[in-house]
Amino acid sequence: MESIDQLREELLAAVEQAADLAALDEVRVKALGKKGRITAEMKGLGALDPDQRKATGQALNLVKDAVARAIEGRKSAMEAAQLDAQLAAETLDVTLPVESQPQGRIHPISQVIDEILVILGDMGFRVAEGPDVEDDWHNFTALNIPPDHPARQEHDTFYLPGAAGADGSPGERRVLRTHTSPVQIRTMQAGGPPFRVIVPGRTYRSDPDATHSPMFHQVEGLLVDEQTHMGHLKGCLEDFCRAFFGMDDLPVRFRPSYFPFTEPSAEVDIGCTREGGQLRIGHGGDWLEVLGAGMVNPNVLKNCGVDPENYQGFAFGMGVERMAMLKYGVPDLRTFFESDLRWLRHYGFASLDMPSLTGGLNR
Ligand code: DAH
Repeated sequence: MESIDQLREELLAAVEQAADLAALDEVRVKALGKKGRITAEMKGLGALDPDQRKATGQALNLVKDAVARAIEGRKSAMEAAQLDAQLAAETLDVTLPVESQPQGRIHPISQVIDEILVILGDMGFRVAEGPDVEDDWHNFTALNIPPDHPARQEHDTFYLPGAAGADGSPGERRVLRTHTSPVQIRTMQAGGPPFRVIVPGRTYRSDPDATHSPMFHQVEGLLVDEQTHMGHLKGCLEDFCRAFFGMDDLPVRFRPSYFPFTEPSAEVDIGCTREGGQLRIGHGGDWLEVLGAGMVNPNVLKNCGVDPENYQGFAFGMGVERMAMLKYGVPDLRTFFESDLRWLRHYGFASLDMPSLTGGLNR
């Protein structure tokens, strides 16, 4: 029986020495597998006489069990050690700073346009667009600004030569649109009422003043339906101003004004203070103009083939740069277009910080 004890010691030593799971499995195959040493010993039992066979068989079974148990024990120890090592290697240090933000910033003009679209989009307006290079009719005439109308002078228009006709005659001159209002006309011409659109876009005026830029941005709004009245316009713009500036009780007032394309027309002011030369939006008895608006002039509806007997609507327009300056405290209009990286880093917005009604519009 010396050989069975020896076998046992050898096999248990091999289990102990196995360096990893693969080596351990090799030991298992060599000991307990079909061609393993214990199996071979078992096969030899047949040649023994019955008494010896029984004793040797029992002894071999004990060795087999002991080796199997040792392998199991070693295996779970190795697996536990492996898991510990993995957990230690994958430790997450929650005190580390977050990964660095991407370098690019969203320009405040883009951000403010997105904010405006989120608010008005939620009210059911959809975005409409039109060309920057317009014809005189869409930019002026259809909007009830006839050729000799004084409003034309106020627009400081950039004119472009029209394409020459086949016979070489000069074509009708074109204009860089002076406002986004011509998209009202294009929208109404393209389909039937009701209409409910907002129009963000670039606009152009040749104003030499330092507080103006030859290119700037506006958002226009147009709503036409059968029952639309001034109360709808008021509610819409009050809600808009309060959402945009993030103040539920922001004072908003409508002051009578004049635009050729609306009748009656109003300018919309929000409350502010100017104490100590510092402008602050909110309560305070002072007023600041932010929007032009009014009920669409019946002549404009007629020019677009909409029957003013059955339909009426409201329209409004605002300057995006002005809204951005007021909301984010940008002191100088010209800096919007200087592409100064230091300015962009300061006034720009993180690319993943997209405005939403639930996620926030006001930072
Ligand atoms: N188009 C005007 C401008 O550029 C802004 C404006 C005022 C648009 C009143 C409108 C409106 O639709 O109703 O100054």
